[in-house]
Amino acid sequence: MVASVRKDSPAGAVPRHVAVIMDGNGRWARQRALPRHAGHRAGIEPVRAVVEHCASQCVEYLTLFAFSSENWKRPQAEIHGLMALFVDTLNTEVAELDENGIRLRFMGEIHRLGPALQATIRAAEARTRHNARMNLVLAVAYGGRADLVNAARRIACKVAAGELHPEQIDAAQYAAALEMAQLPDIDLLIRTGGERRISNFLLWSLAYSELYFSDALWPDFEIGELERALEFYRSRQRRFGRTGEQVEAAHC
Ligand code: FPP
Repeated sequence: MVASVRKDSPAGAVPRHVAVIMDGNGRWARQRALPRHAGHRAGIEPVRAVVEHCASQCVEYLTLFAFSSENWKRPQAEIHGLMALFVDTLNTEVAELDENGIRLRFMGEIHRLGPALQATIRAAEARTRHNARMNLVLAVAYGGRADLVNAARRIACKVAAGELHPEQIDAAQYAAALEMAQLPDIDLLIRTGGERRISNFLLWSLAYSELYFSDALWPDFEIGELERALEFYRSRQRRFGRTGEQVEAAHC
């Protein structure tokens, strides 16, 4: 699957953590007078291509929004089709991901998924857990607000148990209580499908992300467009509240 690892990237030029909101499958299908499920199926190939390219570029974390907590509102038939597609895709792809050193992780309300998908997820995580080349994180039944609420609950429990003082709660404490506490902040968020919103994705980790919005529908998303997103990222000066002059001076 993955060709060569580029070793000559200047420091900071490659985002450590890329996240993608894969949008537009339904519209892609409608444009072709196909059922929505055909759009979701067609969305698998760009997933493979993006995983391969990000690994080849030494991205450390790639997080894909596969199913949001709001997507439960969709018609039952579409939800069932998507869940079956997840099971099939994971079963088909896990060996190649493993061979290529990719570690699979999942985030979201996994307990709400069907038993077959839960078992597939656990098996994929177990099989790839020693891999270190790239982390592929699939957000399934994930909602950013629920993650924030759950973190607040965990912290409140510590306070109630006398393990933590309210004054000790800071950004680091809060981040540590999130579901994927061990993931670094997202450097680059890509959203396809023409919408300009973050749709309750990883709200905390997106605080300082560079945002790249693509009009391509997800099944049409090609590596050329991913390269444009990475180029856009390289062109940004990340200031984190400092002035441009301060950032430039720090690089001298
Ligand atoms: C949003 O498009 C897409 C989804 C809700 C599903 C995304 C899932 C895949 C691409 C399959 C990925 C599989 C794995 C195992 C990672 P939409 O249906 O909202 O499109 P629309 O806005 O055009 O209606």
